[in-house]
Amino acid sequence: MKNFILVAGATGDLGGRIVKSLISKGAEVHALVRFESDKAKITEIAALGVTIVEADHSNKEQLINACKGASCVVSALAGLRDVIIDTQVLLLEAAVAAGVPRFIPSDFSSDFTRLAEGENRNFDLRREFHTHLDKAAIKGTSILIGAFADILSYNTPFYNLKKQTVAYWGDDPNWNVDFTTKDNAAEFTAAAALDAETPGILRIASFQLSPLEMAAYAKDVKKTEFMLKPMGSLADFSAYNKRERAAHPEGENELYTSWQQSQYMHSMFSVQNAPLNNDRYPGINWTSAEEVISRI
Ligand SMILES: NC(=O)c1ccc[n+]([C@@H]2O[C@H](COP(=O)([O-])OP(=O)(O)OC[C@H]3O[C@@H](n4cnc5c(N)ncnc54)[C@H](OP(=O)(O)O)[C@@H]3O)[C@@H](O)[C@H]2O)c1
Repeated sequence: MKNFILVAGATGDLGGRIVKSLISKGAEVHALVRFESDKAKITEIAALGVTIVEADHSNKEQLINACKGASCVVSALAGLRDVIIDTQVLLLEAAVAAGVPRFIPSDFSSDFTRLAEGENRNFDLRREFHTHLDKAAIKGTSILIGAFADILSYNTPFYNLKKQTVAYWGDDPNWNVDFTTKDNAAEFTAAAALDAETPGILRIASFQLSPLEMAAYAKDVKKTEFMLKPMGSLADFSAYNKRERAAHPEGENELYTSWQQSQYMHSMFSVQNAPLNNDRYPGINWTSAEEVISRI
């Protein structure tokens, strides 16, 4: 059998895009899905020419069988400890047992390797997963993307179209925040999955945008003034996030609870993707900030 790429989380938003991009590159793709995954989504993926592999994600033997013959396992799973640690570690162990040479975990985040523990719950889970990946007999590659560019359409403090404000933390309005579109992240991940020589970390961004540039682009595109709002120090922001987390323990069971979104904002102003590996694969059409902002 021809080598294939096994994609876990293929029924998800990013996973589905990774599958499409792999297919467009002529790859043989197997999609690992759950018995309870949405059947319509599975049919959609199967129609692309993908082999569907249904498995109980808590059954190691089934996962080993799914991994046999793969040249790379790509995880685009989303979730909390039960997914990022429990399921992903089992998938990692299955990939090792099946002799798969490479594993791309579901990181797709800001650079958690440069952020202190305790600042971002979801990043702490990724860091913990890496303690398993680092000692496994398999080559791991993390793809770090900053924030999905879509968040610019969510009226977050960084770009609030309703209030016409651009907020920032820290003392530098020229601080560059990393943004990557889902399609660019998927295309780069597909290329990395097909590349046997990837390093442990690849950092990308469709564009990097400072609060000052954001306000200027917004004014240009929306033909109205945007107010730049300094929000205070990162230390105060971190302390605020810790208080919010302690005050809302129910959020521990929610993937994107409000204090986690706030933690993400803190990360965007704390770590930067540098140097960028955007040029590693030619032919990727990186979306510009203007394109994204004008669409919102
Ligand atoms: N940097 C950013 O700004 C940003 C923003 C959003 C997401 N992300 C990251 O991008 C990655 C993909 O996220 P997404 O938005 O594409 O997620 P998504 O659309 O919610 O898809 C999640 C996938 O995970 C699978 N899954 C969920 N729980 C599972 C479980 N217990 N066992 C097995 N599979 C399970 C789902 O399968 P079913 O279809 O069977 O449920 C689905 O295929 C994640 O790492 C996420 O954190 C990054």
